[in-house]
Amino acid sequence: MAFSPTNLFELTMPSSHIIKLFVLQYQFILLCLPRLGLGDCDRKRNFVLNDSDTISSMGNVFKMGFFSPDNTTKNRYFGVFYNVSESTVIWVANRDNPIPDSSGSVKISRDGNIVLTKGNGEIVWSTNVTTSLVDASVQLLSTGNLVLRDNSTGRTVWESFGHPSNNFLPTLRIIDNINTGHKVVVSSWKTPTDPEVGNFTAGLQALSIPQIYTWNGNRPHWRSGPWNGQILIGVQDNVDGFTVVNDSSGTFYFTAPEGKFLMRITLNSTGSLVQTLWNRQTQNWDITWLAPQQECDVYGTCGPFGSCNALISPICSCLRGFEPKNSEEWGRGNWSGGCVRSKPLLCDRNNNTNCGGKEDEFFRLPYMKVPDFAEQGPSMTVEECRSLCSRNCSCIAYARDKNLGCMFWSQELIDIQQFSNVGEDLYIRLASSELDGHKYEKLIVVGLVAILLCIFIYCWLMARRKGDKGKLDAKLYESGQTYPSDSSGIVIKDDMDKVNLEVFPLFTLETLANATDQFHDDNMLGKGGFGPVYKGKLADGHEIAVKRLSAASRQGMEEFMNEVNVISKLQHRNLVKLLGCCVEKEEKILVYEYMPNKSLDVFLFDTSHPSQKILDWKKRFSIIEGIGRGLLYLHRDSILKIIHRDLKPSNVLLDEDYNPKISDFGLARIFGDNQDQANTRRVLGSRGYKAPEYAMEGRFSEKSDVYSFGVLMLEIMSGKKNNFYCHEWSLSLLGWAWKRWNEDDGVALIDARILSPSYRAEIMRCIHIGLLCVQKLPKDRPNISVVLSMLSSEIVELPEPKQTAFTGSSQQRQKRSISLNNVTLTEVDAR
Ligand SMILES: *[C@@H]1O[C@H](CO)[C@@H](O)[C@H](O)[C@H]1NC(C)=O
Ligand SMILES: *[C@@H]1O[C@H](CO)[C@@H](O)[C@H](O)[C@H]1NC(C)=O
Ligand SMILES: *[C@@H]1O[C@H](CO)[C@@H](O)[C@H](O)[C@H]1NC(C)=O
Ligand SMILES: *[C@@H]1O[C@H](CO)[C@@H](O)[C@H](O)[C@H]1NC(C)=O
Repeated sequence: MAFSPTNLFELTMPSSHIIKLFVLQYQFILLCLPRLGLGDCDRKRNFVLNDSDTISSMGNVFKMGFFSPDNTTKNRYFGVFYNVSESTVIWVANRDNPIPDSSGSVKISRDGNIVLTKGNGEIVWSTNVTTSLVDASVQLLSTGNLVLRDNSTGRTVWESFGHPSNNFLPTLRIIDNINTGHKVVVSSWKTPTDPEVGNFTAGLQALSIPQIYTWNGNRPHWRSGPWNGQILIGVQDNVDGFTVVNDSSGTFYFTAPEGKFLMRITLNSTGSLVQTLWNRQTQNWDITWLAPQQECDVYGTCGPFGSCNALISPICSCLRGFEPKNSEEWGRGNWSGGCVRSKPLLCDRNNNTNCGGKEDEFFRLPYMKVPDFAEQGPSMTVEECRSLCSRNCSCIAYARDKNLGCMFWSQELIDIQQFSNVGEDLYIRLASSELDGHKYEKLIVVGLVAILLCIFIYCWLMARRKGDKGKLDAKLYESGQTYPSDSSGIVIKDDMDKVNLEVFPLFTLETLANATDQFHDDNMLGKGGFGPVYKGKLADGHEIAVKRLSAASRQGMEEFMNEVNVISKLQHRNLVKLLGCCVEKEEKILVYEYMPNKSLDVFLFDTSHPSQKILDWKKRFSIIEGIGRGLLYLHRDSILKIIHRDLKPSNVLLDEDYNPKISDFGLARIFGDNQDQANTRRVLGSRGYKAPEYAMEGRFSEKSDVYSFGVLMLEIMSGKKNNFYCHEWSLSLLGWAWKRWNEDDGVALIDARILSPSYRAEIMRCIHIGLLCVQKLPKDRPNISVVLSMLSSEIVELPEPKQTAFTGSSQQRQKRSISLNNVTLTEVDAR
């Protein structure tokens, strides 16, 4: 391939002609196209749109006209649709009142309203604005909004966005005015082919903390959880780009800005909100988000005081301290009755008898979708929230969100869900006797274990001193922090002695909590697929990274310890070192060495810090090699032969010299590898990095890691993320790279920040190798030792890459059906 120096720099900018068509500017056309014979532009009253006419918006994105949703009937409706396909109707005027033939026409009536009439002149639908307008005009804006304007004032007197049908579009506002009660909601069609108003509506409820709901009639059907100023905290997969705005006059609205892509969220006739994006390549609407996704997402599936967890069976369980209200129905899988408190609260008893007793306590439930009906409290620390709640007997639960502050609950706790790696800590009020029994057990067990441990430690230290091994571990023991001397120590059952403790340091929860300032949000380094990671500082000054594993790990303690023990034996300069772990009843925590330079994704993609050091090509190359060597060790040289399965930039940490260290290796083992379970589909692997055979069939191998490595290489060289919608023509990075490569224009892929003529050949060679790693078929990908030989140029001749995986679009999806209340939705899961 030949590149002239002149085209070097032009090609580095992402092409500027990105889908000009889709730029939805706020422009409009007047309905005075001569072609339609509408006459003089200014005399809008003469405007008539007949059944066979259509009019496009500026930029041709939307069209309005007549349509039949169902080919079997002649019913005609007037509406607005996306120009890309007539079946994507976004708004319908005469929803409840179809015209049985093609005699309908739309015009401006004498009083200035837009009216839809039948052949016989009968009005079928009208904008029904009371003030009569002398001079009005109709415009279809480029956003899809149909507006009626008063030309004398320029004011919009009516707009279709104020009366949405079943679609939410960018710039449309879903409104709730808490002073006037004015609401704008989306309402479902009756059936997929009948636009009549159906049973479901979706809207914003802002009275307390704003939340999005869908309702089935008057009953809530789904709830997003509170908007915390950044995200909706009750959904697992957040949808990007949306905001809830409080415009200070009591009006709250949910909206999305105009984007480069055609997007809509449809409330379908079975009550699901479905976000779709138009894929130009496949000429299809790709589903990108869906709610509710599963039975647990349906409002109140487990009834009051019940908690839903999609990963366990049965999905419903009563909260700690509660029991089924009707155990017969509960056992039968009818959970709607919910649960009741097993032991009365001191608060409640005192109200009646005024006798003394032990104070109620709070029990922490991690990773929760918080219940409905939260009351917002002041912005405080968790401890302050607790003390406010404990002083008020009406308060039965609290939580704290870093943006929202305290949240309190005083009614029935309903619509609670346990997530695996997102959500809030929810604290529920329980009678102290509810927790007493366990404490007693704990004390005995801890006492026994402490003695056992002391013996172990003693033996271990003796052996260790002779062995003269690593300094840090020894120090941890000598300083005496890691073993419990009191009841707050480790709770270990009697199967403990089977675990080979000799080799592996245990930390107490207390030590780690102190080191991380009680797992304070400020110390959070990031949230990985397996749980959040905190920065910590031990009493002796050592910095550590503390990974609090999410609840998805359902292993017993012994299994867990064995696994961790084995993983801790993997040591390589390009792997993050595991220093120890901590197991207590509710917690499984891993302790790693701390990496001061965060993770690779920060350096590659985070443009929010302009002062961020830019990694030059030499450094990037050594990072690529380092990751490759780490991977080679995992695949070939270690005792275990580990497939990482979630290799991505955020799992590559950088030490003080920017040497890469792979993290999260071996966690797939801890979390079990049963691919038939929905949880592993969610937890393992990340969009954009999963090889096709792994994403679709759950088959993983060394070659699927090589694939992730290839994606990583291309990202490192291009400085661009392999995610959706960011590249030309809605191609993924891989598709884009392949396209450019084939056009002999590989230089266009190179990150402008590292592009320099002296390295060009070297970088191009790396892109070549990257493309070989992301081949569609595993057999076409080299294994990692071959990749390393290619990188070091031990292998000089490189085979030509074939078409890479996912070239058509990043959004080729895998269909799977889920059944929900007897309605089967076809959900689509990004690879
Ligand atoms: C127009 O509004 C009035 C009162 O607001 C209502 O009674 C009437 O049914 C409406 N007509 C149409 C065609 O929507
Ligand atoms: C809508 O509600 C009506 C009455 O409550 C019911 O008969 C009908 O089956 C519901 N339709 C759907 C799609 O749920
Ligand atoms: C479920 O249980 C409730 C009482 O908890 C009862 O009222 C309801 O009829 C039951 N529903 C079904 C379908 O059995
Ligand atoms: C106690 O909590 C309830 C419900 O949250 C609230 O209405 C009430 O004002 C609180 N009482 C005090 C004294 O704070």
